[in-house]
Amino acid sequence: MSEASTSSATGASDPERPASDPELVEGSPTPTPRRRLRLVGIGCGDPDQLTLEAVRALQDASFALVTVKREHDPLADVRRAIIERHAPGLRVVEVVDPERDRSASATATIAGYENVVDDWHEARAEAWEQALLGTPGGGAGPWAAGGAGGGAGPWAADGAGGGAGPWAADGAGGGAGPWAADEHSDGALLVWGDPAFYDSTIRVVERVVARGAIDLEWDVLPGISALQLLAARHRVVLHEVGQPVLVTTARRLREAVDAGADNLVVMLGAGLDLTGLEDWTIWWGANLGARSEALVHGRVADALPVIETARAEAKATAGWVMDVYLLRR
Ligand SMILES: C[S@@+](CC[C@H](N)C(=O)[O-])C[C@H]1O[C@@H](n2cnc3c(N)ncnc32)[C@H](O)[C@@H]1O
Repeated sequence: MSEASTSSATGASDPERPASDPELVEGSPTPTPRRRLRLVGIGCGDPDQLTLEAVRALQDASFALVTVKREHDPLADVRRAIIERHAPGLRVVEVVDPERDRSASATATIAGYENVVDDWHEARAEAWEQALLGTPGGGAGPWAAGGAGGGAGPWAADGAGGGAGPWAADGAGGGAGPWAADEHSDGALLVWGDPAFYDSTIRVVERVVARGAIDLEWDVLPGISALQLLAARHRVVLHEVGQPVLVTTARRLREAVDAGADNLVVMLGAGLDLTGLEDWTIWWGANLGARSEALVHGRVADALPVIETARAEAKATAGWVMDVYLLRR
């Protein structure tokens, strides 16, 4: 790392300080309104898992940006339920998530997978930019920003009309986006778990800022990650005394084991291939925090059939399944 930098928070943690409020000097021009996007970690599905800081961020926001998949998206439903619980009436701006190339040919190699993800991040950045600018047809979906008219849905704005977007109120049209007319306006982006683990939100927001079309501040509020929930539910420490834990993906599990890792947390798996690890111990959890939560612990060979059944049941109950596990030699 050749570069060092210092940065100050954008005011997320100090309620006493009106973050980045421009100093008002008599006779100086009116300060540019601050538009801040807050990346709010929401935990893994249980509305009780939001921190007080996260709840306050939702309550203070002018709108929430929620990504939805083209087909029915149960995780978007969870986000809406969280908003309804903690910030009822908060306007929801939906952004339809661009499709990612999941073909085996494109993702067979690590390099191919990284290319696909890179393209996907850029497409997401473009879609979010459009939604934040309030561009008509900018992918905001049925709850689209101003001008969406009758399709605005239950969390819709107040009939802002005019194409100004979800935050707009000043009639600025092009460029005002969903921001409120007030001098300062926050948007909240609800991030599953904690934004620091296997989540592209930070990278996509960096791209939105780099594209330069929106003058945007942003900050990150941590959430409870699936990692923490797994440990809590199993009442286990993720590593042995003074030892490391490697957090990786199912895709890279083999590589990690071959390199000698013997205590790993594995995320982003579509199924479990643990051939050769039959004598290891597993602490597995699916849909943690949801009503369909399932836990299995034991020797891998014994646990695997139980896990397969529990995984299928969780999917059938909730309509979605995500799992994470700790593996130890
Ligand atoms: C895209 S990553 C997001 C991780 C998230 N940022 C976090 O901090 O937990 C999705 C992966 O996280 C894990 N995960 C997320 N939510 C989960 C849950 N409720 N139960 C079990 N695993 C979960 C799974 O490994 C899933 O494949």
